[in-house]
Amino acid sequence: MKMSLIMIIFLPLILAACDNVDPEQRRLAMHLPPVGFQGNAEQGQVLFRKFCTSCHGFDGKGSEQGPPLIHPVYRAAHHADLAFHMAVRDGVQPHHWKFGKMPPQPEVSPEDTGHIIAYVRRQQRQAGIQ
Ligand code: HEC
Repeated sequence: MKMSLIMIIFLPLILAACDNVDPEQRRLAMHLPPVGFQGNAEQGQVLFRKFCTSCHGFDGKGSEQGPPLIHPVYRAAHHADLAFHMAVRDGVQPHHWKFGKMPPQPEVSPEDTGHIIAYVRRQQRQAGIQ
């Protein structure tokens, strides 16, 4: 009896506290940069070459270890920006190719990923992939 009274009093407070998660914290948990963030393709190129080239090739055109990202399969309509954030946060189970899985990339921040996306989209556009 006493316990249920405590629950009645505190449960709404606990639920209210859960609902009150800072939206910026929520974006971070989703591996998304802050609202209003603008990716920069030049910075993205440097970061891409540091973190992604070993598998996706120097210019994103693929290697022995991983697929090209400058490829129609990865155009925005098919793999939205969120797919890039999820790939960096969680890695990727093989499903399109036969290279095996992509491991998570914990050193790459949400902002870094945003810059990398700007670079990949620019390269896709230049290759006529929209
Ligand atoms: C150790 C190798 C490796 C590294 C390093 C790597 N990737 Fe990958 N990535 C892969 C492989 C392999 C796949 C393809 C999986 C499949 O068969 O669909 C992939 C797939 C992807 C996909 C497609 C995700 C999807 O939903 O299908 C994206 C986006 C991606 N990588 C982005 C990146 C970015 C950005 C970086 C650098 C920060 C990076 N990868 C670094 C191996 C790698």
